[in-house]
This record gives sequence, C-alpha cells and structure tokens, in this order.
Amino acid sequence: MWDFPLFPEQASSFAGAVDLLFSALTALSLLVSIPIVFLIFYFAIKYRRGSNADRSNPPGTDVRLEVIWILFPFLLGTGIFVWAAFLYFHIMRPPDHTLDIYVIGRQWMWQIQHPEGQREINEIHVPTGRPVKLIMTSQDVIHSFYVPAFRVKMDVLPGRFTTAWFEATRAGEYRLFCTEYCGTDHADMMGRVIAMEPAQYQEWLSGRATGALTEFGEPLTAAGAQLFERLGCDSCHQPDGSGRGPSLLGLFGSQVQLESGEVVTADEDYLRESILQPQAKIVAGFEPIMPSYEGQVSEEQLQQLVAYIKSLDGEAQDEGDQEPRE
Ligand code: CUA
Repeated sequence: MWDFPLFPEQASSFAGAVDLLFSALTALSLLVSIPIVFLIFYFAIKYRRGSNADRSNPPGTDVRLEVIWILFPFLLGTGIFVWAAFLYFHIMRPPDHTLDIYVIGRQWMWQIQHPEGQREINEIHVPTGRPVKLIMTSQDVIHSFYVPAFRVKMDVLPGRFTTAWFEATRAGEYRLFCTEYCGTDHADMMGRVIAMEPAQYQEWLSGRATGALTEFGEPLTAAGAQLFERLGCDSCHQPDGSGRGPSLLGLFGSQVQLESGEVVTADEDYLRESILQPQAKIVAGFEPIMPSYEGQVSEEQLQQLVAYIKSLDGEAQDEGDQEPRE
C-alpha cells in the first residue's frame, strides 16, 4: 500500500467539485500531450538521417481536417472556461446566511474572533453542515489563508477585508497554512480548523469544551455597540436619519447611492473603508464631514464595529432605493 496521497482529503461542500475540474483539466492535458510526445518520437525515428522515407512532400489541404482541429479545441476550451467560471463564482460568493468569523493575520499567527466573543489563536472551531464566512485582514504584511482539505485559499491583505467561505462536511481537524511568504517564520504560521458536529460545537461555544487557547470576550455586536457610543458615532448616525450622517439601520448588504453618482454595495469592506477613510465614498445628500478613525481603532475593534453595524437591521430611513432585506 502506498501512503502517499495525491490529494488532501475532501472535507468541504465544494471540495469534490474542485477536484473534478482539476482531474478533467489533467485528463485533457494528457489527452493532448501524450499523442504529441508519441508523434515527436515517431517522426524523429521515421525521418532520421539515412532512412529512405518518402521526402517528396506533396502539397495537399483538407478543409474538413482544418475545421475539426480549430473547432474541437475551441469548444473544449470554452467548455472548460464556462465550467470553471461557474465553480469560481460559487466559491467566491458566500451564501446569504453564514456564520461570520473574523480573522486577523499577523507575523506570525492567526487571531480569530467569533461572533459570540470567543477568541482563538491558530485554531478555528466551526460547526459542520453550516456555511462559514471568514472576514479577514492583516495587521502587517500580506498573508494567505489556506485550508487544503476545504479547497479554500484567499489572500489576507493589510488595509482591507477579504472574505472566503466554506461549509465543512465532516467533523475533524484540518491543517491551516499561510501560503504567502511573509517573513522569517512564514513556515511556522500554521493552525488548525476544528470542524465539529453541531451538538459538540454548541458545547464548545458554551465554554464547557474549549481549547486551551480559547479566550472569552463579549459578543462582537455588544463590544461594537459600546465602541460605537464611546467614539461618538451615534451623535451623527442617528437611527431615524435626522443626524448629520446617514442612518446605519439596514445598511449592510444594501445598495448605497453615492454623491459621485456611483452605487456601491455596503459590504464589510465598504464599512471598513467608511470608518477609516470616510472621504473615499460620500453618501448622496450628505456633507463630507466625518473624521477618519484611522489609528484610533485596532483591527480587532474595527471588526467589532463592523459586526455591530451589520447587526443593525430594520427600515432604512436615509435612502429611497434600499433593497428590502429578507
Ligand atoms: Cu503569513 Cu506567510
């Protein structure tokens, strides 16, 4: 028996689909390259110096043959492209209702904040059978979050949020790697994703079965709400829309009309930018008067603020063209 796995195990909902595409590409490449290699040797031997093969090279064309070898690869290439594009969109677009976990990469560790306040280093506990969205940022240089068993890989950049999602299908422990060279201890920037059955996960959440490195804080939305008040955000962003800034109720996920005429989706990265560089995107009908909070909030606090603003559901008062939330 060979103990040499060519593929990591498949432990996420799209791992099988990724492997199928990869296998198809490999098979197709072999299908094309094996005949070519064979023909190279065949012709090299047939037309070697001194052989009495026919070298008169009579002219001849066959349009049908031309059509076949143009059309066939074209259709194959297009097919692969369409297939891969669908899979890519599926992997890049998180589903609607996800468990949102916040990740900070830094030299040389992964810091995790769970919505209910658990904090972990280099370990992420997740439930199986439920889509998990990671909202990630870096405190220093570029890192990359990679869990081979989930076929999930996403760069983690300073100064912005990137997101990735997965749904673990089998309970177990899966390796987490940093796959972007980030300094001396890049190779040690590893961790574990611990996928648990929902019941065990509930137990873990309640604190009865936590890992050694788990720390308990306040739920993110509560911590964010306190920060929101302490920083005085609420003095301008009043929920009824009467303040100097737009109301934030129901903002997350909605389409925002900007002063510039542009329309943007209020995702995590938009919220982040609006806190740190408020002048970058001015909401239509408002003055560019918000001060920057760059340097006043840590990455962790920023995630708490974003989690809080995301939790503000309800009728939006500040816009006419708000998308209804489900
Ligand atoms: Cu972090 Cu490599």
